[in-house]
Amino acid sequence: METKKKIFTAAPLPFMGQKRKFLKQFKTALKQYPDNAVYVDLFGGSGLLSHTVKSVYPDAKVIYNDFDNFRERLENIDKTNQLIEGLRAILSDYPKDSRIIGRTRDSVIACVKLAHEGGYVDYITLSSSILFSMKYVLSFEALEKETLYNCVRKSNYSGVGYLEGIEVVSKCYKELFGNHKDTVNVVFLVDPPYLSTDAGTYKSYWKLRDYLDVLQVLDGTNYFYFTSNKSSIIELCEWIETKTPMSNPFTGAAVESMNATVNYNSSYTDIMLYKQWTHNIS
Ligand SMILES: C[S@@+](CC[C@H](N)C(=O)[O-])C[C@H]1O[C@@H](n2cnc3c(N)ncnc32)[C@H](O)[C@@H]1O
Repeated sequence: METKKKIFTAAPLPFMGQKRKFLKQFKTALKQYPDNAVYVDLFGGSGLLSHTVKSVYPDAKVIYNDFDNFRERLENIDKTNQLIEGLRAILSDYPKDSRIIGRTRDSVIACVKLAHEGGYVDYITLSSSILFSMKYVLSFEALEKETLYNCVRKSNYSGVGYLEGIEVVSKCYKELFGNHKDTVNVVFLVDPPYLSTDAGTYKSYWKLRDYLDVLQVLDGTNYFYFTSNKSSIIELCEWIETKTPMSNPFTGAAVESMNATVNYNSSYTDIMLYKQWTHNIS
């Protein structure tokens, strides 16, 4: 008897920025797109959108760009479960969500250290188990400095079948887009990092230019694009469409910059641009 394939409604492991809450609307919108297209998930993250496309359209070719190496976390899920089981045992009498202190804290740290020395710790999943909500560390040294909380969940993690039938690549979205921009029947899934936020567990920091660069992949293509009102990108595009003479007002301007120090570990750059139209100036 054929077993029914599990459909995930969230990434199998914690992943900041996964489109879990958008899945219902995404699936509905997906119905307007062909079932045999090539779907390229340029900013794959946890792969949740790729997984969803494959579960809705099993015959479609789906390419998941695993830029953060989420696959490594999935491949090590057994080790992660083992570590979490150890923590669950240590914290069995501890109240949920309370601060872990004293000897119990020492035991938790010792348990993580052992796993760390054993070779692999998924610090992102571990963070969601013993750090305050939304707080993440990526190393043992960083973990040791944190206040710990008991947020260990009761059940183990499972990623069985999650990436089944999906092609996985790992490269910058620009290169991947270049590989597929002329592919027939292609649909791009475009979910870039949030603008200028410290994208915590991601590999890079996104500035406005990076964010605007992404818009180029939307030009004349089939796409799903995700953003937030914090980025104001839609407002910016609407403004450009109606108001600008389509030229850069700074072209030809001279630039001067100056470093401004806020305190010993933080600074920013003040920028002055100047330009004169000879016929406007006396
Ligand atoms: C908002 S998340 C995508 C979330 C994903 N849709 C999900 O549901 O899990 C953006 C992802 O883009 C990745 N990223 C950052 N720079 C990238 C680049 N140059 N090319 C491809 N991906 C990049 C980030 O590391 C992050 O995983």
